Amino acid sequence: MCGIVGYVGDKQAQDVVIEGLRRLEYRGYDSAGVALVNDGSVAWAKRAGKLANLEKVLAESPLPGSTTGIGHTRWATHGAPNDTNAHPHLGNHGRVALVHNGIIENFAELRSEVEAAGDELRSETDTEIAAHLIETALAAGGTLTGAMQQVCSRLEGAFTLVAVDAEDPSRVVAARRNSPLVVGIGEGENFIGSDVAAFIEHTREALELGQDQIVTITREGVEVIGFDGRPAEGTRYHVDWDLSAAEKDGFDWFMRKEIFEQPRAIADALLGRHDAEGRLQLDEVRISDDELREVDKIIIIACGTAFYAGLVAKYAIEHWTRVPCEVELAHEFRYRDPILTRSTLVVAISQSGETADTLMAIRHARQQRSKVLAICNTNGSTIPRESDAVIYTHAGPEIGVASTKGFITQMIAAYLLGLYLAQVRGTSYADEIARVVGELRDMPGHVQRILDGADDLYALAAELEGARSVLFLGRHVGFPIALEGALKLKELAYLHAEGFAAGELKHGPIALIEPGLPVFCVVPPRGRDQLHDKMVSAIQEIRARGARTIVMVEDDDHGIEEFADTIIRLPRVSTLLQPVPAVVPLQLFACELATRLGHDVDQPRNLAKSVTVE
Ligand code: M6R
Repeated sequence: MCGIVGYVGDKQAQDVVIEGLRRLEYRGYDSAGVALVNDGSVAWAKRAGKLANLEKVLAESPLPGSTTGIGHTRWATHGAPNDTNAHPHLGNHGRVALVHNGIIENFAELRSEVEAAGDELRSETDTEIAAHLIETALAAGGTLTGAMQQVCSRLEGAFTLVAVDAEDPSRVVAARRNSPLVVGIGEGENFIGSDVAAFIEHTREALELGQDQIVTITREGVEVIGFDGRPAEGTRYHVDWDLSAAEKDGFDWFMRKEIFEQPRAIADALLGRHDAEGRLQLDEVRISDDELREVDKIIIIACGTAFYAGLVAKYAIEHWTRVPCEVELAHEFRYRDPILTRSTLVVAISQSGETADTLMAIRHARQQRSKVLAICNTNGSTIPRESDAVIYTHAGPEIGVASTKGFITQMIAAYLLGLYLAQVRGTSYADEIARVVGELRDMPGHVQRILDGADDLYALAAELEGARSVLFLGRHVGFPIALEGALKLKELAYLHAEGFAAGELKHGPIALIEPGLPVFCVVPPRGRDQLHDKMVSAIQEIRARGARTIVMVEDDDHGIEEFADTIIRLPRVSTLLQPVPAVVPLQLFACELATRLGHDVDQPRNLAKSVTVE
């Protein structure tokens, strides 16, 4: 939820930290702050609101030069998003400065202890308690690393902590439990970040930490220990994308850039996953073919947009494998006591790999001995690390809070999984699988064609700028796309928007239809005749009641024109794959409408990119 940065080296720490925060701001933007170690004391600045507010403060009152520092960009949990609750937080005597991502669940009890010791607390945050405890432990002697270790073993919840000690400018110490933290390995300098974007312009060598580990970075090196104090090791890896992937590259928003990256993202998601004959090879699926043959139920768990990718996956997986497949919101999953056995395959879909609800759901599934397969975009993140197998989506970093290329590649990965299961279990013929793989390979071209027509969607957004409410209708795999179209408008344009299964209309939602109400309608391909015709009937019914119909329909499907105020043409693809091209016009429309309404498209209000608290 929050973004954290740490640096020690020979550069000005303030510059490195602020640049890192800029790249992590998508994680939370309620406030930002920085702390630097200078001449035996900690200099700090923090401000509510976006990073720009902090930068203004620093420009007016510069902090002293320093080569050791930490920074934070916040998505508020404990305490309102004001200056006082902004991070960093200091210990009682200002010796320790601390930034934090996550929630310390036993903070109330620890707060009483800190107050009983006579410390004065200034904020409402759980973080400040930890800063006081670390400073108290440090005052008893030893290093910041030792103090961090003592305190972490007392904390409950999910957290990443990063601290500096005024009396030791040589080190920055960080700790993690159930919350993201990576180390950037440089030459004569080292970095800490919530993700590699924090330091990608300085180094692409990274170290991933395990659960309950503490890392100390100095100019000379990096040392890892467990919360138990024993030496530990992280996992080194090379980041295979560069700075340009974390830049807007001439686009006004990361989101728009990411929408336009989708043809490449789809191609990358397919790369190396099939041979020339269309036979699938998912080398990273470390669940044996025998185990996959024994699967008798699949449960997909995810949140938000990833959940809608799961809904699409259900249609495809059941069709190709004939294995019953349920889709469940991750935050509901474990509380309803789901029936899980060793032959249940749980598929967790998450762009970030850090969504706490999804993480807790997979832990529950593994406790019940079910196998867990993650579909994830973020290498080395917690969800794939805690799963039995992973299919990485290879979309590249997604920075816009609204998921776009993350979603489209989640669908591609889910199709690959369904086809692979069908291949292993023999439930689809090889030529049928090869045909679908061939169609998937055509998807980058189809998506590109829609992107080439973006101006028409932008014109539509201009026409509908005054709309107060927008509905989306779909059937079959078009239903999740209707839900996704509505979610995009809610989160970006702050508009009332709802997605419905068109068949449900007459059971209630049709009462919402009034003259001029814009309704996007995703028409299934004609291959599924009944579905297609029923959708056309639904469009006629809402048009008759005055709705403004925006009809998304495949090329050469004529006859609908007289009931459509606007037609958006989709390429001809088979029914199960239609969500891939069909979602793109809805992304373009939402991005443009929100831009016209003057909203911050990359950082919509109240949201954060990865939701690392339950
Ligand atoms: O990182 P995840 O895929 O696990 O995130 C899940 C949702 O929080 C995410 O898809 C959210 O709904 C997006 N903001 C939608 O655009």
